[in-house]
Amino acid sequence: MARTKRKKISEVRLLPNVFSREDGDSEILLREYFANNNSISLEIGCGHGDYTIELAQIYPHRNFVGIDFKGARIYYGAKRVLDLKLPNSAFLLTGAEWLIGIFKKEKIEEIFIPFPDPHYKRKSIPKRLVSPEFLNIYKSVLRNDGRVHLKTDNTDFYRFALKTIEENDWNIIYTSLSLYNENPPEFLHNIKTKYEMHYLKEGRKIKYICFGLE
Ligand SMILES: C[S@@+](CC[C@H](N)C(=O)[O-])C[C@H]1O[C@@H](n2cnc3c(N)ncnc32)[C@H](O)[C@@H]1O
Repeated sequence: MARTKRKKISEVRLLPNVFSREDGDSEILLREYFANNNSISLEIGCGHGDYTIELAQIYPHRNFVGIDFKGARIYYGAKRVLDLKLPNSAFLLTGAEWLIGIFKKEKIEEIFIPFPDPHYKRKSIPKRLVSPEFLNIYKSVLRNDGRVHLKTDNTDFYRFALKTIEENDWNIIYTSLSLYNENPPEFLHNIKTKYEMHYLKEGRKIKYICFGLE
């Protein structure tokens, strides 16, 4: 592993807006950090945190938490948030597998899953961030009127997600196989991460699913 990456992985834990399970009860630590009672929304698999940061800028009266198990990626987003002095954005260095144990009381307003890894191999299906196991985790932490937003460039992943979401008794609120060739729904934010910009440049169509419990 390169030295700079190793350095980021150890330094990320020292940043004041990055929490992990080793630090104690993340739910309490996040509330103390935000120092308000505003709602919390999550970006799962946030990478460099582009989505989390833009959402926090659009909605200053809501809190946004980026979640990823890769410290070197979170490092970029967390540093940017500190430079921008954004008080309503923080990061959790953990896998989404642990969300139920983390958010024991808190109910999450929205969950954003932009461009998750497709995990093509059959044996990797449980790792897909819309596998039945992950959908059950989201069900436990999401508010009844909460929404989940999924974006992907991958048609097979989109089909898998749609089928799994329907089979697991969620309501599909909006879905598109080519988001920018239609009139996008009014609740869609015009946020494009580096991944999305790259895929659009390659001429790929962006697929989107918004789903919820109600
Ligand atoms: C393709 S990147 C997308 C990053 C970001 N959402 C974007 O659009 O720029 C997928 C990210 O998901 C993270 N990831 C994959 N599985 C995860 C899991 N179970 N829990 C947390 N993060 C996960 C990876 O570490 C990676 O950073």
